[in-house]
Amino acid sequence: ICCLSPFKHLKNPIAHKLILRPCCDSGNVTFLISSCLPPLTLTSGLYVLLRVKMALWRYMGNGSNIPSIFAQTVNLHPNKPALIYEATGETWTFAQLDELSNGVAHWARGQGWVSGDVVALFMESRPLQVALWLGFAKVGVEAALINFNLRHDSLLHCVGVSGSRAIVFGAELADAMLEVRSSLSQSMVRFCTGDLGAEHLASLSAQPLDPMLASAARHPPSPCVPPKGMNDRLFYIYTSGTTGLPKAAIVVHSRYYRIAAFGYFAFRMRPDDIIYDCLPLYHSAGNIMGVGQCLIHGLTVVVKKKFSASRFWEDCIKHNCTVVQYIGEICRYLLSQPVRPAEKDHKVRLAVGNGLRPSVWEAFTERFGVAQIGEFYGATECNCSIANMDGKVGACGFNSRILPNVYPIRLVRVDEDSMELVRNSQGLCVPCRPGEPGLLVGRINQKDPLRRFDGYANQDATRKKIANNVFKKNDSAYISGDVLVMDELGYMYFRDRGGDTFRWRGENVSTTEVEGILSSLLGQTDVAVYGVAVQGVEGKAGMAAIADTTGSFDCSSFLDEVQRALPPYARPVFLRISPQVDTTGTFKIQKTRLQREGYDPRLTTDQIYFLNARAARYEAVNEELYNAIAEGRMSL
Ligand SMILES: *[C@@H]1O[C@H](CO)[C@@H](O)[C@H](O)[C@H]1NC(C)=O
Ligand SMILES: *[C@@H]1O[C@H](CO)[C@@H](O)[C@H](O)[C@H]1NC(C)=O
Ligand SMILES: *[C@@H]1O[C@H](CO)[C@@H](O)[C@H](O)[C@H]1NC(C)=O
Ligand SMILES: *[C@@H]1O[C@H](CO)[C@@H](O)[C@H](O)[C@H]1NC(C)=O
Ligand SMILES: *[C@@H]1O[C@H](CO)[C@@H](O)[C@H](O)[C@H]1NC(C)=O
Repeated sequence: ICCLSPFKHLKNPIAHKLILRPCCDSGNVTFLISSCLPPLTLTSGLYVLLRVKMALWRYMGNGSNIPSIFAQTVNLHPNKPALIYEATGETWTFAQLDELSNGVAHWARGQGWVSGDVVALFMESRPLQVALWLGFAKVGVEAALINFNLRHDSLLHCVGVSGSRAIVFGAELADAMLEVRSSLSQSMVRFCTGDLGAEHLASLSAQPLDPMLASAARHPPSPCVPPKGMNDRLFYIYTSGTTGLPKAAIVVHSRYYRIAAFGYFAFRMRPDDIIYDCLPLYHSAGNIMGVGQCLIHGLTVVVKKKFSASRFWEDCIKHNCTVVQYIGEICRYLLSQPVRPAEKDHKVRLAVGNGLRPSVWEAFTERFGVAQIGEFYGATECNCSIANMDGKVGACGFNSRILPNVYPIRLVRVDEDSMELVRNSQGLCVPCRPGEPGLLVGRINQKDPLRRFDGYANQDATRKKIANNVFKKNDSAYISGDVLVMDELGYMYFRDRGGDTFRWRGENVSTTEVEGILSSLLGQTDVAVYGVAVQGVEGKAGMAAIADTTGSFDCSSFLDEVQRALPPYARPVFLRISPQVDTTGTFKIQKTRLQREGYDPRLTTDQIYFLNARAARYEAVNEELYNAIAEGRMSL
C-alpha cells in the first residue's frame, strides 16, 4: 500500500484544479478527488497578504500612524457607534471617542509627559481604556497594558519592567493597589478612574482622573515631536506565559495595523459587522483583533467587562452582534452551559479566535449555529501568524507547500523534550515533512513590516526568542516556541505550547490533546495535564489536575472511560482533584505550581490518586504510598 504525496507527482499543482488525495482507510487505499480548496486558500491567502502589505507600505510612506488612521475612520462616520460598554449600555460614537482621546492627550501633555514616556494602565476592560491609550498615542506617550488579575510581586514586576512614569488604575482595583502601595516607586504618579472615596485616594496618594479629563480641551492636540510613524512604539502588551513571569512585548503601530487588518480581510469581516469583545483589553486578541476593527475599519465593538458564559448569547442578541471573539477555553465553557433558547436566536455568523480544540470544534458550530470559525495562530510579539480562512476543521492555519517562500514560516525539527532545534551537518535547521511535528519559526527581516520582530522591553527576553542560521547561513528567525504539524496540503494544526509534551514509555504525550479528551469525558470541566518526574523512572509520568466543583468525582467510572479513550501511555498515572484549577486571565491553565508540587500529598490539601496498573484502579496517595513510589518499591 502506498500513500502518495499529492504534490510530488504533479509538475504544476497550481494549474491543476483537482488534487488527488490518497485516503488510507482501514488498510484500503481509496483515491478521492478532493476539492480545489488548497489552491483557493492559497490565492485568497496571497490576496490578503498583498492587500495588508500594500496598505502598510502606503501608510509608512506618508507618515501615518494609528491615531491618524483612526482620524480617517472618524471622518467617514462620526455619529456611528464605535464602542458600546456592555456593563452600562453606554455608547460612544466615533466623534465622542475621538474627542475624549483628545482630552486624554491634552491632559497627558499637561502632566509633562513627552514622546517616549510610558504610563501603566491597570483597570478592568472598559471603553475608557481605549480612549486612554489612544489619547496617549496622539502625543507619543506609550501605555503599558497591565493584566488586571495581577497582584503583589507579579503586578510590581510588570509595572517595573515597563519603566512607567505613572499609573492609571480603576477604582475596582484599589485593594490591589493598596497591597503594593509602599513597594511602588514614590516618584510614580498615581491616578484613579471611577468612584473612590477621598480617604482611599489619599491612602494611595492618588489623584482622581475623571474630573481632570472632563475639563480637558477637546480639540485635536498638536502633533508630537518627534512624530511617531508606523515603526514606532504604540504600547506594551504582556505575554501571558503559562510559565515564568510575564514579558512586556512591544507593539509598534504597524503591528497593530497588521493584526487588525489580517483579521478583517482573512475572515471577511464587513463594515456593518458588530463585534462582541469579551476578551480582556490588556491582550492583543481583545485590544487589537477586536478593538482594532473599530479604530481601523470602523466597526462597532461591544466591550464586555468580563467574560460570562451564561450571558454570552443573550448579550449577542441584545446588541445584534454578528461576530464574536473567543480565546482558550471560552468555547468549552459555553458548551458546558445548559441549553438555552437564546443560543440559536442570535445573528452571529463568525467566531474569531485561537485555541479552539478539535475535540469541541464541530460540537460548537453545530450547537450554536455559528457558520464560520476564524481560527488563527499568532502571538502578540510574533511575526509568524497564520489563519484558517476556509474553516477546515481543527486547523489553525495554512501555508503553501508549493510557494513556501511567499510567507517564510517553517516547521523545523525540534527535540520535544528539551525544545532544542535539531541541526543538520551544515548547522542549519531541518524542515519537517508532512505529519511530522515541528517548531514554528518565522524568518526575520527588519525592513519588511510584516516580518519585523520588535522584541520585548527586556533585551534578554528578546535574545532568547531569536535563533540564527535557521533557513540559511547568518539569517535570524523568531522562535515561536509552539509545536505544530502540517498535513500534505499545507494545513497546519496546533499541537503543543512549547515544552508541553512529555515522554512516557517511549511515547510523546501531548498535554493539550489529553486535556481536551479528559475535559470532554468530564463534561468540559477544567483539566490541566503535565508530566511529573518519578525517581528512578525514565520520562515523566502523566498527572491530571481536575477541577471538581461539585465534589462528585468518581475514580472508577473515570478510569473506565479513560481506558476507552486513551492509549495506555497517555492515561494519567496521577490525579489531583481540586475545587478549582488555576488559570491565567485568558483561561490558559497555569501549571508551574502544579508541576512543582507533583504528587507529594504533603504539599497540598487536594486529594491525590495513583493509578495502580496491576489492580487496575486509582488509589488515594498517602505518605506511605508516596514513599513507596518515590523509593521505587511500587511498580508504575
Ligand atoms: C496616507 O496614505 C493613506 C493610504 O493611501 C491615505 O488614506 C491617507 O490619506 C494618507 N495620509 C496622508 C497624511 O497623506
Ligand atoms: C437590532 O436589530 C433589530 C432589527 O434589525 C432592530 O430593531 C434593533 O433596534 C437592533 N438593536 C440594537 C440594539 O441595535
Ligand atoms: C518523540 O519525540 C522525539 C523528539 O522530538 C522523537 O525523536 C521521537 O521519534 C518521538 N517519538 C514518537 C513515538 O513519536
Ligand atoms: C518575523 O520577524 C522577523 C524579524 O523582524 C522577520 O525578519 C521575518 O521575516 C518575520 N517572519 C514572518 C513570517 O513574518
Ligand atoms: C556569515 O557571517 C560571517 C561573519 O560575519 C562571514 O564571514 C560569512 O561570510 C557570512 N556567510 C554568509 C553565507 O553570508
